[in-house]
Amino acid sequence: MQAWINPACSKCSAALEALDAEGIEVEQRRYLEQAPTAAELNDVLQRLRLEPWDITRLTEQTAVELGMARWPRDRNRWIAALAEHPILIQRPILLLDDGTAVLGRTEQDLRIAVSAQHSRSDARPRFRHKSVDPTREHLHTSEFDDFVDGLDYPMFIVTTASDGQQAGCLVGFTSQVSIDPPRMLVCLSVRNHTYRVAKHADMLAVHVLGPDQRDLAELFGETSGDDVDKFARCSWRPGPRNVPLLEDCPRRIVGRVLSRDSFGDHVGFLLEPTGIEVNSTGASLSYQQVDELQAGHPA
Ligand SMILES: Cc1cc2nc3c(=O)[nH]c(=O)nc-3n(C[C@H](O)[C@H](O)[C@H](O)COP(=O)(O)O)c2cc1C
Repeated sequence: MQAWINPACSKCSAALEALDAEGIEVEQRRYLEQAPTAAELNDVLQRLRLEPWDITRLTEQTAVELGMARWPRDRNRWIAALAEHPILIQRPILLLDDGTAVLGRTEQDLRIAVSAQHSRSDARPRFRHKSVDPTREHLHTSEFDDFVDGLDYPMFIVTTASDGQQAGCLVGFTSQVSIDPPRMLVCLSVRNHTYRVAKHADMLAVHVLGPDQRDLAELFGETSGDDVDKFARCSWRPGPRNVPLLEDCPRRIVGRVLSRDSFGDHVGFLLEPTGIEVNSTGASLSYQQVDELQAGHPA
């Protein structure tokens, strides 16, 4: 984006700092040295959806001397005055890549600019309204996908052991489902090696991943125990009933399997927690950070 700034202005510095913190590239235009023409001002006003008097700094000495506060609302006259005296132009003005512009003076305006710029640079298709008549009997899978698209939630690695075999995979479909008594629900795809081991297991361990543990997410989400010994590639120790406990994860909960229910292509394992280990309560790896991984077993 381009930002029209006055380097002596604290609002401009604050805006540049906020944009930089968001990783947004800004081309700075020092509009006092490189004054905009009347045509440029006209264009920017259209992008801002404002009138010239809306972006005039009426308290500047020049504006007071010209008596602008009492001027009639004559667009051309105001634009000519701004072009001749750029010190009168309110700042910073942020020209976004989507063709709109924002006066970046408040935190809220900056938030609007940041989110517009991010959605632009993500190169995601622009949002389009979707709806399905609620009187219909059921949704198609693609319509359900439209609803879940873009939602975010924490990712976990679930491990288990039975009949001398250990297994584990990356899961998103996992949640606390009761406070008292404490209960967790873990949903495993019936295609996964982990499901086949969990089917006969008494216990599961559910590990939270830190935001920097993408490597573990890849190991447990992109490879299958059918082909790879995941536990030869990470550090772990045996827990209750030989369930592998991943040493590097910031927190985990271990639970006894109370019931198994088929929900469709996933089976829900209801857990009664029996133990926890919490080494950090910091942020966790989320689905949106790993949604492009190629699952070892497509669901
Ligand atoms: C972003 C992401 C989310 C996933 N969520 C789940 C899930 O909720 N439940 C599940 O059983 N598998 C899920 N998977 C798939 C398994 O982690 C993956 O197929 C894994 O390779 C299976 O390993 P396994 O065959 O050793 O069990 C997910 C994979 C990815 C990449």
